[in-house]
Amino acid sequence: EVTRLWGGRFAGGPSEALARLSLSTHFDWRLARHDIAGSRAHARVLHGAGLLTDAELAAMLEGLDVLAADVASGAFTPVLADEDVHTALERGFMERVGPELGGRLRAGRSRNDQIATLVRMYLREQARAIAAEVLDLVGALIDQAHANEGVAMPGRTHLQHAQPVLLAHHLMAHAWPLLRDVRRLRDWDRRADVSAYGSGALAGSSLGLDPEAVAAELGFSASAENSIDGTAARDVVAEFAFVTAMIGVDLSRLAEEVILWSTKEFSFVTLDDAFATGSSIMPQKKNPDIAELARGKSGRLVGDLAGLLTTLKGLPLAYNRDLQEDKEPVFDAADTLTLLLPAFTGMVATLTVNRDRMAELAPQGFSLATDIAEWLVRRRVPFRDAHEIAGACVRVCEERGVDLPDLTDADFAAISPHLGPDVREVLTVEGSLASRSGKGGTAPARVEEQLEQARAEAAEH
Ligand code: ARG
Repeated sequence: EVTRLWGGRFAGGPSEALARLSLSTHFDWRLARHDIAGSRAHARVLHGAGLLTDAELAAMLEGLDVLAADVASGAFTPVLADEDVHTALERGFMERVGPELGGRLRAGRSRNDQIATLVRMYLREQARAIAAEVLDLVGALIDQAHANEGVAMPGRTHLQHAQPVLLAHHLMAHAWPLLRDVRRLRDWDRRADVSAYGSGALAGSSLGLDPEAVAAELGFSASAENSIDGTAARDVVAEFAFVTAMIGVDLSRLAEEVILWSTKEFSFVTLDDAFATGSSIMPQKKNPDIAELARGKSGRLVGDLAGLLTTLKGLPLAYNRDLQEDKEPVFDAADTLTLLLPAFTGMVATLTVNRDRMAELAPQGFSLATDIAEWLVRRRVPFRDAHEIAGACVRVCEERGVDLPDLTDADFAAISPHLGPDVREVLTVEGSLASRSGKGGTAPARVEEQLEQARAEAAEH
């Protein structure tokens, strides 16, 4: 009945309250598969160090296989008395191979090096799955950009009309940060690619075990250079929380635009019925709940990061039990994105764009004023003067309640002798877009190049 991994020096068992506080199986049980993989690798290095006979190793590996199958089928689960995933699995192992053999497996390892390793194994899997989901979203953005090639919209700064841009250009401005997030996950993996097995409790092992062999078996390129660092560091866990929070924030910024764009006032996009919700009282409602949940959950992801960093701050070396608090935030972050991303991608992929509405608004709000100024600069007018002249055009328009293309040749001439009738060549959205043809600009040919580049990058991963 007593399954604790410690107790020799204690006169009695822990209080009920302590046992409850200490318990972590409700969240670390998800590491069971990785813990058993670690045990297999550990059994092999115990054998390699001459601490297990061939027969003992064979019996151990068989017992671990049976245990793994029982864990997978749900036949074996932790009980309340199991402090954590390691304790539960040792109990399950002992039950299957007997106390003589079962009691040999723990030699030379500690829950401290175990947990540091298992968390990395688990998060590496999660990172790969999340990267694939983010790439699906990038693909949906690229497809939308492609499907709406040539559609203009008002580009904004300060949420005010600024300059016309292509919708494809704007959508890709959401895709690039997400591609960087995928790169961040890949890059993070290089730092997560180090096993802590062999670190023991903090000082390393005296039993002649081979940490590199364990690392290789568990899919790591290397084992820790420093056993204290191996058991005490959580920067890799915190960095995972950062990247997931960043993904959350990137989704949230796009979500905010989807929410705005689907309002009556904007009327830029329509959500597909399958990716929108209704109201229990207002029959007409179609709400952007996926986008709102994305915006809301980004707060939760940021909280996961902030909570974890706060836990780590001020911890002395080496292992402290505070470190048990590292898991729930990152498990929550991974779960949150795993739930959110497929819905979010579906929403983006099925958005219908109101192209006419976007195109109609693109030149409004004097968004072509910069084009006048830059047209003047190409005619050798100093920019300070050009800015003033274009500003004067806006002022005249505002007084009359018209827009820039409505000004007559005479109006232009009256504002400045530099403003000949051919200034009109830049007073169309098409002219304005085409003129922004430097690399990274919104000219159609440049956006086409950009789409190619993004497609190629997405395919690299
Ligand atoms: N459950 C702990 C954790 O998640 C690992 C166990 C370490 N416990 C200990 N008493 N050293 O960090």
